[in-house]
Amino acid sequence: MTSYVLAVDVGTTGTRAILFTHDAKIFAVHHEETTQSFPEPGHVEQDPAELWEKTRACVEVVLSKISHTSDDVVAVGVTTQRETVIAWDKKSGLPLAPAIVWQDTRTQEWLEMTFDATKQQRITELTGLPVTAYFSASKMRWLLDNCADVAAAAEDGNLAFGTPDSWIAWNLTGGVDGGRHITDVTNASRTMLMNIETLSWSDELITLFNIPRATLPEITSSTGDLAVCGDLLRGAPLTCILGDQQAAAFGQAATSPGDAKTTYGTGNFLLINTGTLARSAHGLISTVAYQLADHEPVYALEGSVAVSGSLVQWLRDNLHIIEKSADVEALATSVDDSGDVYFVPAFSGLFAPYWKPDARGTIVGLTRFSTKAHIARAALESTAFQTRDVIDAAEKDTGIALHELRVDGGMVSNDFLMQFQADIANIPVVRPVITETTALGAAFGAGLAVGFWKDTRELETHWIEDRRWEPSMTDEERHHRISRWQKAVSKSIGWLDD
Ligand SMILES: Nc1ncnc2c1ncn2[C@@H]1O[C@H](COP(=O)(O)OP(=O)(O)OP(=O)(O)O)[C@@H](O)[C@H]1O
Ligand SMILES: [Mg+2]
Repeated sequence: MTSYVLAVDVGTTGTRAILFTHDAKIFAVHHEETTQSFPEPGHVEQDPAELWEKTRACVEVVLSKISHTSDDVVAVGVTTQRETVIAWDKKSGLPLAPAIVWQDTRTQEWLEMTFDATKQQRITELTGLPVTAYFSASKMRWLLDNCADVAAAAEDGNLAFGTPDSWIAWNLTGGVDGGRHITDVTNASRTMLMNIETLSWSDELITLFNIPRATLPEITSSTGDLAVCGDLLRGAPLTCILGDQQAAAFGQAATSPGDAKTTYGTGNFLLINTGTLARSAHGLISTVAYQLADHEPVYALEGSVAVSGSLVQWLRDNLHIIEKSADVEALATSVDDSGDVYFVPAFSGLFAPYWKPDARGTIVGLTRFSTKAHIARAALESTAFQTRDVIDAAEKDTGIALHELRVDGGMVSNDFLMQFQADIANIPVVRPVITETTALGAAFGAGLAVGFWKDTRELETHWIEDRRWEPSMTDEERHHRISRWQKAVSKSIGWLDD
């Protein structure tokens, strides 16, 4: 009998299922790209039915690689994109509206009109989050106010709200046949409805946003006997739920205070483990890193950057200057430098550390000399500049100088970007053998809960370095480039002010 842990990773760009072996190797993996729609400026939507159908398809494919009689899935971990809101009918099991994705900014004006500075400060105190459209609560409010089916289901007592982890867990555990309506503390910490200290729904926040209490999932720890899966997984135990960025940090074995990672996916997310709850004075947010079974929670500071890999998709889908994402590297390196072109991809405003909802995407420094190659290069460089900005904030907040940056996610196969990141941040950038750290983190959590792996020490032994990029830029050049970037950022801010 061979035992495996199954991780399901429902990202923004795509969904994957991976079976991990006891030595933390990938035995089987299946990936499906998922559709994002942009029906109007600022609106970003996904189809909840597609998220679940593609997840189910991925699970079926990897399960077909093992034998039904002699192999076993001992635990299941679920990790998903965070903040995105899904509304469904508990009776029919059907979604009631498109998912409003984390990058969607449609509720920004409502937030600014509804909450004055004092109220905003209070919300931040309770949640550790700046009051912006990024988080879930205002998206739930929008659905209740603008979608008749959602409002009617709330009236009838059939409405379930959830972040994608809740939707996937509910479906995996049986859906209309007894599915559990749950979420873990890491995902709940991004809704703007959970008290970051008590780890329960806050009556004060629920009242402020006017969300019916009964529509919200039950908050659980990140690991433990959370629920039992339905027929698809033949009753395997669901023992881990984690937000994708927290899962990536766990998969990078960032389990001690000061450990940090950056994931380069749709957006870029730096998490630095702080152990206990820390508050940022430099534009980072306080978040729960994980809570193992009945242990105390572990906290992190996070630098969330909205647009990185999705800018590469934008070059592909909107400008058509590349055919596939990986082609961006050849185009960007076909020129010696960006030709003093800077690209600030503030498509959803600027997130950390600026939190400027009124910013919009800006390309500056164009001349008749500029080509699509310069724009592609500036686009990749913007990912590294944005990440440097949040590293800088993390170092100021914690007083710890990062000695290296552990990286993962779809963009880390880009050698040019990784070298430029090391140069601009002036620290070594380190990539592990398994770059699917989001799924690995969910598998680690699920496996720990059933004793498949003993403790976090054992997990650390499975973290193996693959490649390292050392900084090689002169101080003068680096300072010059950073100051040009900062000037470009200042040009993007305030675009929406009237
Ligand atoms: N070689 C490459 N160079 C630059 N970007 C790339 C490259 N390959 C993939 N990407 C980008 O990486 C992103 C996909 O990364 P990943 O698979 O980690 O995303 P995801 O997990 O689906 O999304 P997320 O976790 O952010 O919700 C895409 O936006 C894609 O454009
Ligand atoms: Mg991901």
